[in-house]
Amino acid sequence: MSSIVIDNIGELTVDHTSPRTGAALVAEDGRVTWIGAAGRAPAADARIDAGGAAVIPGFVDSHAHLVFAGDRAAEFAARMGGRPYTGGGIMTTVAATRAATDDTLRANARRLVDEARRQGTTTIEIKSGYGLSVADEARSLRIAAELSDETTFLGAHKVPGGDPDDYVALVTGEMLAAAAPHARWIDVFCDKGAFTGEQARTILAAGVKAGLMPRIHANQLQHGPGVQIAVELNAASADHCTHLDDADVDALAGGGTVATLLPGAEFSTRSPYPDARRLLDAGATVALATDCNPGSSYTSSMAFCIAVAVRDMNLTPAEALRAATEGGAAALRRTDIGHLRVGARADLVVLDAPSYLHLAYRPGVPLVKTVLQHGVPL
Ligand code: NIG
Ligand code: FE
Repeated sequence: MSSIVIDNIGELTVDHTSPRTGAALVAEDGRVTWIGAAGRAPAADARIDAGGAAVIPGFVDSHAHLVFAGDRAAEFAARMGGRPYTGGGIMTTVAATRAATDDTLRANARRLVDEARRQGTTTIEIKSGYGLSVADEARSLRIAAELSDETTFLGAHKVPGGDPDDYVALVTGEMLAAAAPHARWIDVFCDKGAFTGEQARTILAAGVKAGLMPRIHANQLQHGPGVQIAVELNAASADHCTHLDDADVDALAGGGTVATLLPGAEFSTRSPYPDARRLLDAGATVALATDCNPGSSYTSSMAFCIAVAVRDMNLTPAEALRAATEGGAAALRRTDIGHLRVGARADLVVLDAPSYLHLAYRPGVPLVKTVLQHGVPL
């Protein structure tokens, strides 16, 4: 048994209901066991004095591509000079990833997980997708599984050459068999230059048969069938959702699929942002995630995504924080994270600020004082 009390919390965000002022929180064996007034908490083995600062649930980053080698800074610079983003650079990273040793890939992924954690991310999903061969996808997922329980097989990130039908057969056959023991999810990049709706259905169905749960990169570069497929298959999440029509918004609002928005990608590819306001107003569940990857969004900062969502996507700061915590948890079909109600995992962040509002109000400023994961300060 080990317990910890966080006392003198100026503003405690437990969940999407209004934050409490003057609070304390106790965690025992990694779970929240008590919430009440500051100064009234039962004794615990350890104590943190928040000194009037704000406490929020740890961020749940439900979409990240962290297993890769090299970077694409030059591609980014060219894009800022006017080149469009097509996803074609994925193969540059695939070549670097295939050539890297396991240790290099592991060290790079671990560095990114640590970087994210220092910025308040306590759960991070990790996709494969830069191996695109049986051996390279399997090792990517082995490394991912060392760092997170939320691992996603994305062999269908790009056709690496040859006949697309042959590649789909490989992904749904030998590659899936090698990947499935290390993965919880299966994902497909269903878009222009990647996989068609028909291919996406085939791949996701094979993944489900192998015991994985579906999620999908949908409607990032242009309007396509991805969102409709996601809702039909009851996928946990449709990610990007940049180009939606009325039927897509209705489907997301009426179904069990979370709309995961990745503003880092629009920021870093200088693309129009998704219509988050429309999704929320229609009643869809919205998540915010980083899409951390070397091509379209090389940020691990959930606070950055919150700031952009508030400034440029018209979310209120409360909606953005909810999307970055409870929304991310919903996108991973998790109820034990993303909030701090009694019973939740004690994953939380003590901010170096009096209110969560500062996450958007003070963009680019490191506002994380202390991170607790499973009740343990990092
Ligand atoms: O989510 N859209 C597809 N995959 C990534 C980008 C991958 C890359 O450019 O390396 C994304 O944006
Ligand atoms: Fe992505």
